[in-house]
Amino acid sequence: MTSKIWGGRFQAGPSAIMEEINVSVGFDQRLAKQDLLGSRAHCSMLVAQGVISREDGEAIQEGLTRIEKEISSGAFHFKRALEDVHMNIESRLADLIGAPAGRLHTARSRNDQVATDFRMWVRAAIDNIDDEIRRLQSVLIDKAVDHAGTIMPGFTHLQPAQPVTFGHHLLAYVEMFGRDRSRFVDARVRLNECPLGAGAIAGTSFPIDRALTAEKLYFDRPMANSMDAVSDRDFALEFLAAGSILATHLSRLAEEMVTWSSPAFGFIRFTDAFSTGSSMMPQKRNPDAAELVRGKTGRVFGGLFTLLTVMKGLPLTYSKDMQEDKETVFAVFDTLELTLAATAGMVVDMKPDVEKMLASADADGLITATDLADWLTQNLNIPFRESHHITGKIVKLAEGQKVPLGKLSLADMQMAEPRITQDVFRVLTPEASAASRKSFGGTAPDTVRAAAQAARKRFLEGRLNERKSS
Ligand code: ARG
Repeated sequence: MTSKIWGGRFQAGPSAIMEEINVSVGFDQRLAKQDLLGSRAHCSMLVAQGVISREDGEAIQEGLTRIEKEISSGAFHFKRALEDVHMNIESRLADLIGAPAGRLHTARSRNDQVATDFRMWVRAAIDNIDDEIRRLQSVLIDKAVDHAGTIMPGFTHLQPAQPVTFGHHLLAYVEMFGRDRSRFVDARVRLNECPLGAGAIAGTSFPIDRALTAEKLYFDRPMANSMDAVSDRDFALEFLAAGSILATHLSRLAEEMVTWSSPAFGFIRFTDAFSTGSSMMPQKRNPDAAELVRGKTGRVFGGLFTLLTVMKGLPLTYSKDMQEDKETVFAVFDTLELTLAATAGMVVDMKPDVEKMLASADADGLITATDLADWLTQNLNIPFRESHHITGKIVKLAEGQKVPLGKLSLADMQMAEPRITQDVFRVLTPEASAASRKSFGGTAPDTVRAAAQAARKRFLEGRLNERKSS
């Protein structure tokens, strides 16, 4: 039975079905800019090598310039019947300049052409994402400086563990996003070799200069093996893998924003810009943007698994399966751009409730138990394991009396360890606890301020890589 939706089109028979499954121009027109650049470089190399005449070369370049204008003004008409972006541009070139257009494809195949275009596209995508992550780091650092002294409970197992500063918590993400950037930058280094000139699979008998085209397109060098050049998509996989780890980090931060903004926590509040109401419950302020950042992680992981699966069984070299590489990379890029922008927006927008955070850190007065144990070791020279044990007894006493540690009497404390003095109460507030953690990488407000400064230097000044791209 013919499908109701497609039936009309497929009634035209096998050719319509073939066109439908084969066509890629609906999405690969996003490679148009790179395709034009690749063609320009290839054409000037062919002229320089005497493979085509100067006149034909000039005609081709002029034609490509006109096409570029048509595309940027929206006047270019992409035709499905011409299958992909490469055939569309070449066919238009023939309309515009006639016979010389047929010389552009000398010593080139769509196989090395698409591999080159796509590498350039992914390279530019990496640079865009690097900019976006950097911006997110920048707003996180600003917020961290504002809240270097804001005390909140730090959690393990989502149970209150030790007091930390909100600034410290935010800087943890700055580090994660820094590693994300370096993963993309590493991928870019491996990506930046040029497939152009590999031909369909085996190279070419024309006297081409692959180093020249590589240089014109800002690649570091030509790819060394023509079969590898047309058949691998590991650069796209690395992009998707780095993107998946980035998405994981974004999702964890989003999850924390969801938790923090719940009235049960009440640590932060979003303005109307980043929350939505409920159509039924007037009191609701839902953190939809954060939930969507968390939810869109699925698409990114899906993209990685899509392409891993497409590639895993392919014999060398090119197979049409590989046309499936582009939509998934485009979609992941779009998702990452949007989620990065939304996350940066939320970081700027969120208003921490400083009192609520402190009160939560101090809720049962037990969060400074480690500080008590540390005091025993530091002041009475008790081995830490034993201090831990003694503190356990004191915590039990406090729980029994339903008072915070700091409100126990000295006499009670001394029941557990007679040498304890009044001085111990000094370390039992969340503020004192956080302020004491001055070790490198620790949560003390001054340490966090210094860490924010250092993060600015490491992540925001200069570039991670010297990028040249088209
Ligand atoms: N549209 C194709 C792709 O994206 C271009 C390469 C076509 N090559 C071929 N031998 N049919 O993969």
